Amino acid sequence: MNKAIAIVNLIAILFFLDNFNSHAQNLSNNADSLDRKWWKEAIVYQIYPRSFKDSDGDGVGDLKGIISKLDYIKSLGINAIWLNPIYSSPNDDNGYDVSDYRNIMKDFGTMADFDSLLSGMHQRGIKFVMDLVVNHSSDEHDWFKQSRSSRTNPYRDYYHWWNAEDGKPPYRYSLFDVNNDAWMYDSTTNAYYLHYFSRKQPDLNWENPKLREEVYNIMKFWADKGVDGFRLDAFGFAAKDTTFPQFPKGFEKHFSLYYSMQGNLHGYLQQMNKEVLSKYDVMSVAEGTGNTLEDAHNMVDANRHELNMAYPFEGIDLAKPEGYELIHFKEVFSKWDSTFEQSGWLGVFLANHDQARMVSRFGNDSPAFREHSSEMLTTFVLTMRGTPFYYNGDELGMTNIRFNKIEDYRDVQTLNAYQHEKNIGGDTIAYIKRKAFESRDNGRTPFQWDNITNAGFTTGTPWIKANPNYTTINEKQQDKDPNSILNYFKKIVQLRKNNLVLVYGKYTLLDKDNPDAYAYTRELNGAKFLIMLNFRSKTSTVNIVFDLSKAKLLSDNYTAHSTGNVLQPYEAVVYQLQ
Ligand code: GLC
Repeated sequence: MNKAIAIVNLIAILFFLDNFNSHAQNLSNNADSLDRKWWKEAIVYQIYPRSFKDSDGDGVGDLKGIISKLDYIKSLGINAIWLNPIYSSPNDDNGYDVSDYRNIMKDFGTMADFDSLLSGMHQRGIKFVMDLVVNHSSDEHDWFKQSRSSRTNPYRDYYHWWNAEDGKPPYRYSLFDVNNDAWMYDSTTNAYYLHYFSRKQPDLNWENPKLREEVYNIMKFWADKGVDGFRLDAFGFAAKDTTFPQFPKGFEKHFSLYYSMQGNLHGYLQQMNKEVLSKYDVMSVAEGTGNTLEDAHNMVDANRHELNMAYPFEGIDLAKPEGYELIHFKEVFSKWDSTFEQSGWLGVFLANHDQARMVSRFGNDSPAFREHSSEMLTTFVLTMRGTPFYYNGDELGMTNIRFNKIEDYRDVQTLNAYQHEKNIGGDTIAYIKRKAFESRDNGRTPFQWDNITNAGFTTGTPWIKANPNYTTINEKQQDKDPNSILNYFKKIVQLRKNNLVLVYGKYTLLDKDNPDAYAYTRELNGAKFLIMLNFRSKTSTVNIVFDLSKAKLLSDNYTAHSTGNVLQPYEAVVYQLQ
């Protein structure tokens, strides 16, 4: 009896080894020509901690809340998490105003909670990407308190100051200021300080080597704790010409041309790489890509030793209240793909915490099409070359909340721009209408866990209202339904993870002038996948030359499959071509 079991086991082991060898062989064949990296193969799930899960009933999401959902996160199949900032902060801009870079925000918990969260992720094979906010700090950071206290304080040069006796400083546009003025007068020292974002977010002076050293030490502090990557917030703006020349009138309409990738920014990135990034197995991605494809490419060309990954906004900026042209959308994504075809690497995304919801902007959130269009967009993000960054809640097809009164909003940008509109006697009604489409708060409403009070996010009063559609759109219900968006997301994640062709394969756009459908192939070492996506609420036909009768259908978001190249509304199909 025992002998029989031993023989069966031996056969099983041989079979396993054989399979394992051929699998390893496959991977190594692929690996020969590929520069494989974990961060290229990762699927990054972005969590907005304030809105994910509240563990203590204070209405604000927290680290213990995320810990309690780690098994859910693991079940998605994703293998990296980017968390928006969790450092101490007075929360003028929900954590993007840091008052202590070595501590955890009180609302979110303690350093001990962070340590358990990080080890909980690592135990589950999930990497952690930390948001690093160092273009600016909070005005409540000790550095700034010192800096503003006197003109001779050793921290004075950690920020940008303009002495009032030299007259008014040359105009600089602020993204979040009520008057759009980036210079704020401070009477203590009779001087103005610079803030590209809100008044409570003074810009740090990267031209000061001492400041740079401080930032590198902060990065080392977290890398030594074991974080696996950094997302550099607004970093393209960090370098400045500190002679502060006058910019041409009206420059604010194209402020990025004047703010982004100026001066010695590439030099600072190279120094950061040498001092920190090269010493750890961490990935790095900067928000934004500068003004030219060349800048973007330079930033992530491995030979230049700066960052790993670019995160371009051109695609995500296309969605407007009046819609967007699919042909243009295809051009933009194809252009970015080709920029990084030979070297460098790209992040691919259609949503984040600074945008309204993916399905409401790029898809169709009406009850008839919400599910199929969410799944179609998800298929796009997960079948493009480049690392997918997927925003929490999109796996449920969460939609815009569309607040119709300003009192419901919480976002500093939305509130200050409203005040500005009011001050200049603008059309505040039209403003509110526009914000229902584009305000960042649409993407920040509580994660919809179930159909009980406040979507199961908190037992208290949520810091921002939950979308009332949580009664029908929620995780609990979708978990049970094999045809839910959630279960579709899990399948498409596995498809990407099991097929290196979807990570590294060459991308070729097909039928480029088709205004309704997006089709492309991905090819690697003989494997060829065809992806066809219908972006319309009507049937669309794709012009392709492949014989689909011989192709293998790997994925379809309809249970009643389409035939050939005719796609049902918002249908998404993935074929393996023979
Ligand atoms: C980045 C962040 C955004 C924040 C801003 C200022 O754009 O993504 O949320 O408001 O920087 O830190």
